Amino acid sequence: MGVAEVLPIRLYGDPILRKKARPVEDFSEIPEIAASMFETMFEAGGVGLAGPQVGLQKRIFVAALYHDEPEEGEEEIPLKARVKDQYVLVNPRITFAEGEAVGTEGCLSLPGLYSDEVPRNFRVRVEYQDEHGEPKVLEAEDYLARIIQHEFDHLEGVLFFDRLPPELRRQFLEENRAELARMQREAKAFLRELAGKR
Ligand code: NI
Repeated sequence: MGVAEVLPIRLYGDPILRKKARPVEDFSEIPEIAASMFETMFEAGGVGLAGPQVGLQKRIFVAALYHDEPEEGEEEIPLKARVKDQYVLVNPRITFAEGEAVGTEGCLSLPGLYSDEVPRNFRVRVEYQDEHGEPKVLEAEDYLARIIQHEFDHLEGVLFFDRLPPELRRQFLEENRAELARMQREAKAFLRELAGKR
């Protein structure tokens, strides 16, 4: 992996998105991996990105909070230049969670698909290691807590629509059936191409 290269994002239908990611033990490549994950996330316009989404079965995710977009008519600022806070969480463990909040989520592995009804805890405490392996603790609420729970789920092979109550989950899959099937085909084609390169 080169320095901070934009990586292809795995789409719904790629089996790696349903696998449990493995703990990181060797941190030697983690700073470089995190830099590439940030580049990929900024390029795609996301707020979070987990290892499996770029084909890495590792327990790592990145996340960012951004300053507001400029007003209409003002010059556009690239997403990267609007970063307020950015996070790299390796081997995260959610050690405390409380409160309930229902909100909107999308996912870079399910581009264009959203649900406004995703239930999450309002507040979480997460213990993790930074990109150098240093133990850290982060307490987050509201939007950041939602991002952390969404990305943590990716490390367990869980996607946001899995969190919907059964009836809403069924409805989500039904309403987006054609788009999901298209993503599955694209994911398969990508994997075939990848296998051909090896
Ligand atoms: Ni996601």
